[in-house]
Amino acid sequence: MQAIGIDIGGTKIAGAVVTEQGEIVAEQRVATVAEDAEAIVDAVVGMIQSLGAGREIIAAGVAAPGFIDAAQSVVYYTPNIPWRNEHLRDRLLARLGIDVTIDNDANAAGWAEFRFGAGRSVSDMTMLTIGTGVGGAIVSENRLFRGGFGAGAEIGHLRVVPDGLPCGCGARGCIEQYGSGRALMRMANEIADAGGIVGASLAAERTRAGALTGDVVGRLIAEQDPGALAALRQLGSWLGQACASLGAVLDPQRFVFGGGVAAAGELLLEPIREAYLANLPARGFHPEPEFVIAELVNDAGVVGAADLARLHALAG
Ligand code: BGC
Ligand code: NA
Ligand code: ZN
Repeated sequence: MQAIGIDIGGTKIAGAVVTEQGEIVAEQRVATVAEDAEAIVDAVVGMIQSLGAGREIIAAGVAAPGFIDAAQSVVYYTPNIPWRNEHLRDRLLARLGIDVTIDNDANAAGWAEFRFGAGRSVSDMTMLTIGTGVGGAIVSENRLFRGGFGAGAEIGHLRVVPDGLPCGCGARGCIEQYGSGRALMRMANEIADAGGIVGASLAAERTRAGALTGDVVGRLIAEQDPGALAALRQLGSWLGQACASLGAVLDPQRFVFGGGVAAAGELLLEPIREAYLANLPARGFHPEPEFVIAELVNDAGVVGAADLARLHALAG
């Protein structure tokens, strides 16, 4: 039976009706004001109602960018939008006549890649989503890892720098501050300010626009601007180091990278692999995992949220 998946992002909410095979049969998108929890709830309710109209739907899954509880019900904390102990599931159930579960956005995306995308043929997969924040999903022995309190696999908050940059989670030195889309912007702006990279148009763009935005840096990466590539290499190097540590704990056959920055493809994977190998425990004696880009990209969140909701409903 079909299920609905909703993906709450910082700037938009995406929703879709998804089949058991992971195919999208209908979808919707609206812009949101991230700060306004009430408006987000209204938008999610409206979307589930209109996507479900005239269809038989087994359940709806809602993916949110934060720490979720084990009952898949409460959003404990979102580092990049101000939600604290938000009883999202109860709020939605009170207004909808359908079963709803809440999931972490990266868990949903990772599950979708494992079932229908880049993680299909392995039993153990670790996914990092590189967007505003750094999201994580761990599939271990064919199962989605959630942890004892539900909020495991928060890979973005793995500390990589003692006393490093402050993070939206309240701690310091998290990989999110060195490996996210926002970190890439910071690095690009720093490189532009420092100057000295031959042939780079980064500085010129910075002077023209005041500050480099994601779109501009994305375009410069696609054009292989040396300054933008230097920023991407810094980012990849941090991510690769983190993967070496993650590998020591999780030992996945495959690392999958999703989120907006993953559009850089091989240009991102190269420095990641390099830093992974340079920092790998038991180097030369540990089988090498694959490093790949996500396949479902923008659809991963909605597809995974729907599939997890369906499985939850079937498990009763
Ligand atoms: C949050 C995660 C989320 C990730 C991507 C992180 O800051 O802690 O829960 O998955 O951002 O949105
Ligand atoms: Na996660
Ligand atoms: Zn953090």
